Amino acid sequence: MQAQSTNEPGAPVTIAGDKQGGLDAIETASRDEIAALQLTRLKETLNRAYDNSTFYKAHFDDSGVHPDDLGSLEDLARFPFTVKQDLRDNYPFSMFSVPREQLARVHASSGTTGKPTVVGYTARDVETWSHLVARSIYASGGRPGDMVHVAYGYGLFTGGLGAHYGAEKLGCTVVPVSGGMTERQVTLIHDFKPQIIMITPSYMLSVLDEFRRAGIDPREASLKVGIFGAEPWTNSMRSEIEDAFDMDAVDIYGLSEVMGPGVANECVETKDGLHIWEDHFYPEIIDPDTGEVLPDGEKGELVFTSLTKEAFPIIRYRTRDLTRLLPGTARTMRRMEKVTGRSDDMMIVRGVNIFPTQIEEQLLKCTGLTPHYQIELTREGRMDTMTINVEATEGAAGDDARQASGKELSGHIKSTLGVTARVTVRPPGGVERSAGKARRVVDLRKTD
Ligand code: DLL
Repeated sequence: MQAQSTNEPGAPVTIAGDKQGGLDAIETASRDEIAALQLTRLKETLNRAYDNSTFYKAHFDDSGVHPDDLGSLEDLARFPFTVKQDLRDNYPFSMFSVPREQLARVHASSGTTGKPTVVGYTARDVETWSHLVARSIYASGGRPGDMVHVAYGYGLFTGGLGAHYGAEKLGCTVVPVSGGMTERQVTLIHDFKPQIIMITPSYMLSVLDEFRRAGIDPREASLKVGIFGAEPWTNSMRSEIEDAFDMDAVDIYGLSEVMGPGVANECVETKDGLHIWEDHFYPEIIDPDTGEVLPDGEKGELVFTSLTKEAFPIIRYRTRDLTRLLPGTARTMRRMEKVTGRSDDMMIVRGVNIFPTQIEEQLLKCTGLTPHYQIELTREGRMDTMTINVEATEGAAGDDARQASGKELSGHIKSTLGVTARVTVRPPGGVERSAGKARRVVDLRKTD
């Protein structure tokens, strides 16, 4: 296979390429072919960003680099990183590489403080994105004709519309439910009988609760595949959900700065990490402290460079997500290990680094507890205290049972993570729910 398209700005490109047995030919191309395509597209991207974005022109000039300095993929390490603050500083449209009139759509992340970060797409970018989400649904086991229930939020968040366009592109019937109104979610699943659901894993647990409340057996539901992402979740959570619904649960990854959902996706036949769609995104793993590029297999911070985006090319974006790169399996494209945490989510409790997903793993070992949880950090004097708020199952809601479950969880945490955690076992329904990304950590130390 030849490297596709020279990708002249504005010229139509073949986004899909040839299809072989339902896959794009590039998904199983040789590493040399993938690398050749990446180099061609990377050069184009650097030039497009430098020539059309005032931000990137200044960013490269300040670092003393020019797109012509790139002779190999490794040379990308000479270029400066881009961080979330750069998007904030250029709010709303100053980082873009096309005039505003050429944008077909914008999305934005709410952000917890200050202005949102805004990203934009040309019509061709939307087309590329749809194609990659379609590829992701296919890798998850979805096929044309399947019905897809989309419970990611619609709106400025990329989840809902990203999933929607991809499912349509694959030739599926889309049910655009968005997040929330959990009772209605269950009614629609029960009545319409979709094969596929796209939803955050934490919200899927709320849907599960509602199935049980309504007296409907989730294992009898029509769902065959769940495509879960937008937040970290563990393999223990995968087993929990797969058992409850008698379905396959696969992981979808993405972020708005790089595109949205569909940057990487697990293949249902292996469920061994997420294949990065390397024909459109170039991944690097760096040491988060030094910025040095680490070899494949080593854990660090994931950095992405887009290879085909027109409106908002992104060069060496620091995702803050921690993972490592692994060789391809079901596809020749490299995998990223399931993201179990972001550097910003890491809690340091009495000197020990802990991620919420580590607590999740221990929680799912316990009897009498639901998988809903939230971690509260407080400061008492000079000491940080971690309280884990969990909730009892209906069958273990009595005082004695709750005390026993709490003891079991704090015991597991002490023996595996080496820290003392306070565990509060609340009655069923006592832990905050979200219809999108769960808020796993409430840090009350900042307001002390
Ligand atoms: O969450 C895009 C998305 C929507 C992905 C729906 C998958 C499904 P943002 O709101 O910009 O975009 O948040 C991006 O969410 O940097 C990760 O920290 C986290 N994240 C996304 N997918 C996963 C995943 C969307 N599968 C941020 N596992 C990213 C772990 C994930 N974390």
